[in-house]
Amino acid sequence: MIKSALILALLSASVGVAHAADIAKGKELVEKNNCAACHGAGLKAPVAPAYPKIAGQYQDYLYFALKSYTVDGNSNVGRNNAIMQSQMKPYSDKDLRDMAAYIASLPGDLVVKK
Ligand code: HEC
Repeated sequence: MIKSALILALLSASVGVAHAADIAKGKELVEKNNCAACHGAGLKAPVAPAYPKIAGQYQDYLYFALKSYTVDGNSNVGRNNAIMQSQMKPYSDKDLRDMAAYIASLPGDLVVKK
């Protein structure tokens, strides 16, 4: 009993560390890369309709979207938008998680239902 509790505690601690996204780091990356140049002020006022609003979107969705732009040369699996593919090239998996966490934390006007 005690053993399994300990194992559980250890497991959840390591899972927590592996998935801990750093919002401050995400903010730094987003600002440095000037994602707002296309996605607009606060990442919710895109400069043209081709650029999606992303502020406040779910973190998991954002991570998956960002990740899918890094699946190079296989449009059957990833997303093949040339602009975002080049935007995402320099980033590690951890960077993508951090940016997703930051963007999800922003106030946005995306709504699930009105
Ligand atoms: C040069 C313009 C431009 C810049 C700069 C840019 N994006 Fe994008 N972004 C786009 C376009 C265009 C799309 C739509 C691509 C598509 O159709 O798949 C997009 C899509 C996205 C999506 C997917 C949204 C969804 O709902 O599926 C995310 C997330 C995103 N961008 C995040 C970022 C982040 C983070 C940065 C900065 C590191 C960034 N973008 C910089 C143009 C840009």
